[in-house]
Amino acid sequence: MATDDGFRLDGMLLGVASAATQIEGGEVESNWSDWASRPGTIADGSTPARATDHWRRWREDTALMASLGVQVYRLSVEWARLEPRPGLWDDAAFERYRAELELLGDKGIRPLVTLHHFSHPLWFERDGGWLAPGALWVWERFVAEVVARLGDLVSEWVTINEPNVYVTGAHVFGDFPPGHRSLTEGMRVYGVLAAAHLRAYALIHSLQPGPGTMVGVAHHLRPFRPGNPRNPWHRALTPAMRHLFQGAIVRAMTTGEFTFPLRRPPGIPALPAGSGDGRAPYADFFGLNYYSRTTVTRFDDGTPPGVPVNDLGWEVYAAGLGETARWAWETYRLPVWVTENGTCDAADAFRSRYLWEHLSVLSEVRAQGVPVERYYHWCFVDNWEWNEGEGPRFGLVALDYETQERAVRDSGRFFAEVIRAGGGTPELHAKYVAGQEYPISDAPAHPR
Ligand code: FCB
Repeated sequence: MATDDGFRLDGMLLGVASAATQIEGGEVESNWSDWASRPGTIADGSTPARATDHWRRWREDTALMASLGVQVYRLSVEWARLEPRPGLWDDAAFERYRAELELLGDKGIRPLVTLHHFSHPLWFERDGGWLAPGALWVWERFVAEVVARLGDLVSEWVTINEPNVYVTGAHVFGDFPPGHRSLTEGMRVYGVLAAAHLRAYALIHSLQPGPGTMVGVAHHLRPFRPGNPRNPWHRALTPAMRHLFQGAIVRAMTTGEFTFPLRRPPGIPALPAGSGDGRAPYADFFGLNYYSRTTVTRFDDGTPPGVPVNDLGWEVYAAGLGETARWAWETYRLPVWVTENGTCDAADAFRSRYLWEHLSVLSEVRAQGVPVERYYHWCFVDNWEWNEGEGPRFGLVALDYETQERAVRDSGRFFAEVIRAGGGTPELHAKYVAGQEYPISDAPAHPR
């Protein structure tokens, strides 16, 4: 339980996370720019062409990040920008990423680069996306090019962001491009994405031999609990949903074992068995994105009435960060990097409390032996939230989309002070957290 006494995070590196499509802006031919151009897909009709204009404002953003004392930064590269036509590379785009990575290095901020964060070139999508026969070959060509061109500046990689959120959105519930609705197809894409990670893992290590190379996946994990523990349907559905949403895919990607309902894609050879040291062989860290939990009453996300929620209706449940981090460590024996955690709070009315509670939980599980080494807050500057558009406000820094002005929120100042102090102190609690309250859900909601 979080108290107002304080917590220590000695030795843990703290920073922020982002994704290219959500911040860069500009005209890029990706699955998401195409999707957003179709009427009715994005809540406010916005597209990623504006976003935070980070493609041009990267110097200002990096300076602001450094002024908050950020130690690590998770960013992604936009595949559609780097490879606008199959096999054709945009040198200027690579140069622009290089300049940003160099500046990060000058400021002492260590980058963690994601290769696929929900977006890929429109030509890849139109060729059949992950289900096209040559998809893995095309993916590997992209990975190899990025590592060859940026690898002197980057040694830490996330291959794929939230394969489960991506697959359920894009192929099961149809609310991400390409908008398909088929559980069977979703399971097939799961298999391909697992193979994509396993192969990228081996490829990156072969291109960047040496102990400093760290490769993993950013997994979205949630606790699942039955809506009514006495209801046999809720009780049966809970573990099934947990397995379908995260159990099977996490296992395939970390150990190379494909369990039902995942299948190894045809033509993908079995990979060599484990490292033999008890550690999962296909990841060097366990990337954990944590936001909320699911209360199961049917095949969907559920939030019951009467619980604390954020602006999007997602339950705030800090203990779940400890539960998922512990599960990851006990199951796979990998150091845990919290690759995303944050909340949607336009008024900045509870973000500091959210931070306090989630960081306290991490401090507790670390004291119990779970090696949580990193924390990347989602996000730095308010950004384009996929189907939700420009409405949701996840930033430590507020953005005025019209003027592109950035303004550090109180929670941003609080996070900076936590980084400086290496933890939370009673003084910081009194200054930023005391008195903050969450909204309470009143009606059953079914958010993402
Ligand atoms: C995660 C995504 C990230 C952002 C946050 C709010 O699922 O990885 O891009 O949208 O949710």
